Amino acid sequence: MKRIPILMDCDPGHDDAIAIILALSSEKLNVLGITTACGNQTIEKTTKNAQGICEFLGRRDIPIAKGRNAPLLTPVYTAGIAHGESGLDGPKLPEPVAPLQEESAVVFMAKKIESADEPVTLVPTGPLTNIATLILCYPHLIPKIGQIVLMGGSIVSGCSGRGASEFNIMVDPYAADIVFTSGVPIVMMGLDVTNYTTIGFDEKEKFRAAGRVGTLVADLADFFGRGFEMVGWCGVPVHDACTVAYLIDPSLFTMKEMNVRIDLTGEFTMGSTVGDYCGAEGREANALVGISSDRERFVELLLNACASYGKGDKEDE
Ligand code: RIB
Ligand code: CA
Repeated sequence: MKRIPILMDCDPGHDDAIAIILALSSEKLNVLGITTACGNQTIEKTTKNAQGICEFLGRRDIPIAKGRNAPLLTPVYTAGIAHGESGLDGPKLPEPVAPLQEESAVVFMAKKIESADEPVTLVPTGPLTNIATLILCYPHLIPKIGQIVLMGGSIVSGCSGRGASEFNIMVDPYAADIVFTSGVPIVMMGLDVTNYTTIGFDEKEKFRAAGRVGTLVADLADFFGRGFEMVGWCGVPVHDACTVAYLIDPSLFTMKEMNVRIDLTGEFTMGSTVGDYCGAEGREANALVGISSDRERFVELLLNACASYGKGDKEDE
């Protein structure tokens, strides 16, 4: 089976961690590398977390490159309230062993795209700082970016940042504008779909029964889900894993093509993603936007992914 070559750009982050677990389990994906973004926590912390997840999974073979330490023009804005001081509070991850790549994230991505024998899919699940920098610094590589499947934004529902915006876009709206106007095909998994693509509070035991990786997912959901349970939400949204799940099985999602632009001037809407949902504005569609998901089948995919790592400790395998 031909595997889709992908580069993951993330800010682990509990749901980023689950996205990495899903991606590294799939026979359909070839993870060329992981780059880190400053978002949920500082770049040092998100990078250490990405290393710790790969170490936990026994995947020292996955190259990891550190990204920019701040958004393009806006100040650093982290989400310790959601992901904790470390950016991945809750479960205990092993100390990283494999060294980081010497190149920065953007140079690393450019080299991987340049040397690939087919277009590469970018899977950003944090602020789009690195992706925008790649586009600005290596415009000749744009034709070799097959698509950008991102977690970010929201068209009609909710925010996780300031005002009407979603966190990843809000943190670096100028980067998001560069990405959404780049001409690269975009798949946008925004809060409209990710807020409802959840692990049920009563489903965590199923993940624990799936072995050590399932237990890690349950522990991640325990910590990340605290706030959602407090407000009576329907479950723990696994925002970032929606990108990887879409690549593995697009039938899990209902999508709608539309033009999406980033508001860069609104006093209360700066960083929001404005979708021409009905095409009334006549702007050319630039994104395929997630509208809804088959939550049960998503959970089944995630459970099977966890089970595929085996039951025991990685040393026992
Ligand atoms: O709004 C959800 C997004 O913000 C997710 O990517 C989560 O990891 C945080 O970065
Ligand atoms: Ca994230």
